[in-house]
Amino acid sequence: MTQRLFGFAGGEEGTWEVISMKSLIGIPLPSVRRVEMVTGDNASPDATWLLRGITSNERYVTRDEKTQLLAAQRGLARPEATHAALIPIRKNPAWWALPQDERRAIMEERSHHTRIGLNYLPAVARRLHHCRDLGPNEPFDFLTWFEFAPEYAVAFDRLLDELRATDEWHFVDRETEVRLRRG
Ligand code: HEM
Repeated sequence: MTQRLFGFAGGEEGTWEVISMKSLIGIPLPSVRRVEMVTGDNASPDATWLLRGITSNERYVTRDEKTQLLAAQRGLARPEATHAALIPIRKNPAWWALPQDERRAIMEERSHHTRIGLNYLPAVARRLHHCRDLGPNEPFDFLTWFEFAPEYAVAFDRLLDELRATDEWHFVDRETEVRLRRG
């Protein structure tokens, strides 16, 4: 069966060394030295925090966007992609009160999320995890995960600036950026 439930455990151990942690809005995550990506619920009990999310079907992409994404995107764990970013995000109640078509309009017609993101493929590989449907106590709505080669880190910063300047980000009420390197 395809694995869909993933955890990110922050603590003293893990494959990924923390380069920096930055809280953009909302309650910060406690600082940790390393992060491990785990499958299912297999986190070490010693972890300082464990964030869990599940991959899911897409909600908003059109056929045309999906075709472009499939053509350009690469998988995780490429040998050269030794840098990563874990960016947990929560959106506010106003966002979740909107119907699907209005959320799509904000994300795509007004904020051009996919169009902006496509400019950074295939250098950035990504995986989106949803948290809301796991239960009522998840601290974030999404765990976003990105992998890229070190020389692409500056371009990745530009991507973050572009997305955070959009209307979509007015609905973000908690966001922490954890930058990592493997080893
Ligand atoms: C690397 C380039 C990127 C591409 C190609 C991309 C593409 C996408 C696409 C296609 C979706 C919609 C999936 C659906 O239809 O449900 C999405 C959702 C999302 N992306 Fe990105 N993205 C990129 C970068 C980012 C970055 C850097 C962040 C965080 C700073 C981010 C945060 C999110 C979040 C939170 C969602 C879920 C939004 C929601 O459902 O309300 N993305 N992304």
